[in-house]
Amino acid sequence: MILDKNWRILTVGDGDLSFSYSLAKHFAPAHLTASVYDSESELKHKYQDNAFDKLHDLGVNVVTQFDVTEAYCWQNVPSHAFDAVIFQFPLIPAFGSFESFQNQTLSVNSLNRKLLREFLINAAAYALDPNGAQLGIITSKDVKPYIEWNLEGSLVNGLEQYYLGQSRFEISQFPEYQIRNVDRDKHVKDTSGISYYWSVNPAHAIKEKLKVPDYLGDNYCTICRAGPFINDSDKLAHLDSKKHKNMQRHESAWLNYLSTQAKLER
Ligand SMILES: C[S@@+](CC[C@H](N)C(=O)[O-])C[C@H]1O[C@@H](n2cnc3c(N)ncnc32)[C@H](O)[C@@H]1O
Repeated sequence: MILDKNWRILTVGDGDLSFSYSLAKHFAPAHLTASVYDSESELKHKYQDNAFDKLHDLGVNVVTQFDVTEAYCWQNVPSHAFDAVIFQFPLIPAFGSFESFQNQTLSVNSLNRKLLREFLINAAAYALDPNGAQLGIITSKDVKPYIEWNLEGSLVNGLEQYYLGQSRFEISQFPEYQIRNVDRDKHVKDTSGISYYWSVNPAHAIKEKLKVPDYLGDNYCTICRAGPFINDSDKLAHLDSKKHKNMQRHESAWLNYLSTQAKLER
């Protein structure tokens, strides 16, 4: 993960706060505010081993009940005062009841994309300093279901934000970090991940250090990360595959959501 010690960083959705703690202890950025979705008591109940008090001892401000999709929550952190906002291994929480699941019109795939689109929109609107580095960073896994969110190609459609590239997430940079499951006191064993970077500045200097993968280029199916295709029949075989049709369904559902939203906003 490429970070700069001069940055003022806001972390969001940081489960048990062990990422923020490790960041503060080993990286010591110019400023750190940490935030979690849960209340203090929910966090301490859910994750017995958490870094809430340790972060307080380091003098780091911790904001609880911070929902990245709610504009009012962003009023609880300093306005336009950060260079980077980081969301590690995001995932929507489980539905509270079968009824709330049934009442949901969007697929789980679209709900996760919506969470991350709103994260990037709100980070730019409320937290990022227009005179600073202006980066939204999401770390995720390149396995199912996360790989089916098409993070690089779908989050900023129609927005004045740009995908800049990716870097490998190495957990050894953050010795105390335990990647958490969304609703349980368990940590994830496979810690490999990729950090993806967005900004309102399409020519951001950090691009030199980031990788833009081949699958975003021509002669690939970018939504499936498939290719390069050796000829037309290779490409047609992919377009006819179960994998592609499944991804195409996710893309169509997402584009349908975006166009409905655009009409509502008009
Ligand atoms: C798989 S867990 C990862 C937790 C932590 N970031 C880590 O890396 O260990 C997903 C996290 O996303 C958070 N999350 C989900 N929806 C959120 C929202 N609307 N606002 C803020 N955080 C959210 C959850 O609370 C949970 O902590």
